Amino acid sequence: MDATPDPRIAFFDKLAERWDQEGQPPAETVARVDRLAEQLALEPGQTVLEVGCGTGQLTAWLVEQVLPGRVVAIDFSPAMVAQARAKGIPAGFRVADVCREAVGAECIDVALCFHSFPHFRNRQSALKNLAQALKPGGRLLIMHLCGSAAINAFHADVGGAVAGDHLPDAAEWPRLLDAAGLRLVSLVDRDDLFLLEGTRN
Ligand SMILES: C[S@@+](CC[C@H](N)C(=O)[O-])C[C@H]1O[C@@H](n2cnc3c(N)ncnc32)[C@H](O)[C@@H]1O
Repeated sequence: MDATPDPRIAFFDKLAERWDQEGQPPAETVARVDRLAEQLALEPGQTVLEVGCGTGQLTAWLVEQVLPGRVVAIDFSPAMVAQARAKGIPAGFRVADVCREAVGAECIDVALCFHSFPHFRNRQSALKNLAQALKPGGRLLIMHLCGSAAINAFHADVGGAVAGDHLPDAAEWPRLLDAAGLRLVSLVDRDDLFLLEGTRN
């Protein structure tokens, strides 16, 4: 395993304090996700792993969907996690790098990567760790509130540590998921939504 710290940690640490004030207002983000609730199909009693939770903009909404279940929310940026924790959301927040460490063992019903997957420097390790965390039949959701072309162009434009961060081409997903013990169920990639659903074999 590469011992060099991922430069994205410092990148996101630096943004954490003003994350909620820049870009789309968090309430609007949550309202847009809420309109997708049926498609996401989260259920009361489930355990959800939110990967790359940032300041927890979506975490309280996830908690509401699965109560009396629970949400475990991880991010490798300590400053992002500190912002999220300060909100008092009843979720288990943890500093963890999904590319580097186990994030659970067959205990998760749904793993959600919301606006985070392109930043995972080692997709294969991330997918393997997520697959291990999922219960058999558990679901992986990778979601963005815009299409892949816009995301990839946005990161190129931002530059710095995230300049090359992009979503894989549609044709790559089946192989990537398969190598991690996951199966592609559906993939939507349109201007206002990227939503991939996979399931653990
Ligand atoms: C674009 S931000 C999105 C944050 C949040 N989901 C939101 O929508 O506001 C991506 C987040 O993923 C986190 N991240 C990137 N790579 C990660 C990794 N390997 N493990 C855990 N978190 C990671 C970053 O620290 C950052 O907070």
